[in-house]
Amino acid sequence: MKKVLLITGGAGFIGSHVVRRFVNQYPDYQIINLDKLTYAGNLENLKDVDKKDNYTFEKGDIIDRDFIFDLFKKYNFTDVIHLAAESHVDRSISNPTEFIYTNIVGTVNLLNAARELWGKNQENKLFYHISTDEVYGSLGKEGYFVESTPYNPRSPYSSSKASSDHLVRAYYHTFNLPIVISNCSNNYGPNQFPEKLIPLAINNIKNNKKIPVYGKGENVRDWLYVEDHAGAIDLMFHKGKTGETYNIGGNNEWRNIDLIHHLCKVMDRKLGRDPGTSAKLITFVKDRAGHDLRYAIDSGKIRKELGWKPSVNFEKGLEKTVEWYLENTEWLNRIISGKYEEYYSQQYVKR
Ligand code: NAD
Ligand code: DAU
Repeated sequence: MKKVLLITGGAGFIGSHVVRRFVNQYPDYQIINLDKLTYAGNLENLKDVDKKDNYTFEKGDIIDRDFIFDLFKKYNFTDVIHLAAESHVDRSISNPTEFIYTNIVGTVNLLNAARELWGKNQENKLFYHISTDEVYGSLGKEGYFVESTPYNPRSPYSSSKASSDHLVRAYYHTFNLPIVISNCSNNYGPNQFPEKLIPLAINNIKNNKKIPVYGKGENVRDWLYVEDHAGAIDLMFHKGKTGETYNIGGNNEWRNIDLIHHLCKVMDRKLGRDPGTSAKLITFVKDRAGHDLRYAIDSGKIRKELGWKPSVNFEKGLEKTVEWYLENTEWLNRIISGKYEEYYSQQYVKR
């Protein structure tokens, strides 16, 4: 049967890489990208595929139940890959409510539409929910998140994602809705909105602005190149076991301060600056409230069961990312608009 695949949040950072991959690799699938185009959604991310026959864009809000039901009726989706979300932890601290609506209510609307419109005919259907390692909480210096690690979210963002994961799982157990969930570590790469650490730092270094490092920079994240995440999503979409959760990670832990020093060296080289120039921009600022100390994923399950492993080494991936931001100045300049400046001055003035 021909697949008619709904991808939500396809104009965002990870979503755009997923849409591109599916549109190019599966010409016989019909791909419908549903996105509200919030500040984080940008159709420019997809300009290389938007004329393809198997691709359609629909602007809309997953909070709007009637719109979602009508969309399911219009296209008769066979599958959903759900990425749409409010995704930035700092914004969830200053405005939690938006996260509850989009990440929880929006997910429930999609679950209800899939449940009602697929009815008992669930063969060859899949609701694939994209989630985060942040649902597991914060690790100490040792240990890893495995799929059975109890949920312990500590920010409004991670709580809203945890809630959506529980609901997706509940629809599997209660209504037999065919689902898969994956929880991934920090992504980096082209097209990431410059509110997140790596693109924010690249942009600031380029413009000789201070690089704000929260607290002492000792927090640890496990970084994965975004195309490796898209590859894992492709694999799980086709081979993941219904009802299962899979952790995805780069096995690539960095303390923020070490990562920023490394990035500064790359930027000095790329910009032809004297070694040490960019590092002078590092500024320690007030810590994020409730800042999780460390995330680290054990991705043994997806590696063993599905044969996945990351393909991009971090040093190479970071070089590629820096090159992309330096080459795509128009993309960046259009984003660094009035609204971004407003957000930036509110977020970083407090310290
Ligand atoms: P992003 O913020 O770059 O993109 C989110 C997209 O969702 C945007 O295009 C936005 O317009 C859209 N959107 C937001 N609210 C919407 C709504 N109400 N209706 C329809 N569309 C809406 O996010 P991202 O970093 O690409 O993350 C995508 C998904 O992956 C999220 O679910 C996130 O929780 C998850 N995730 C992200 C990371 C990461 O490191 N970025 C890691 C693991 C999991
Ligand atoms: O772990 C997966 C998660 O990774 C995703 O679910 C989220 O959507 C994504 O935003 C990301 O969350 P983080 O909070 O880890 O990412 P962020 O880029 O905001 O921050 C990375 C680390 O850098 C974190 O420890 C906070 C710190 N930081 C961040 C910013 C924006 C700074 O020190 N200074 C900054 O200006």
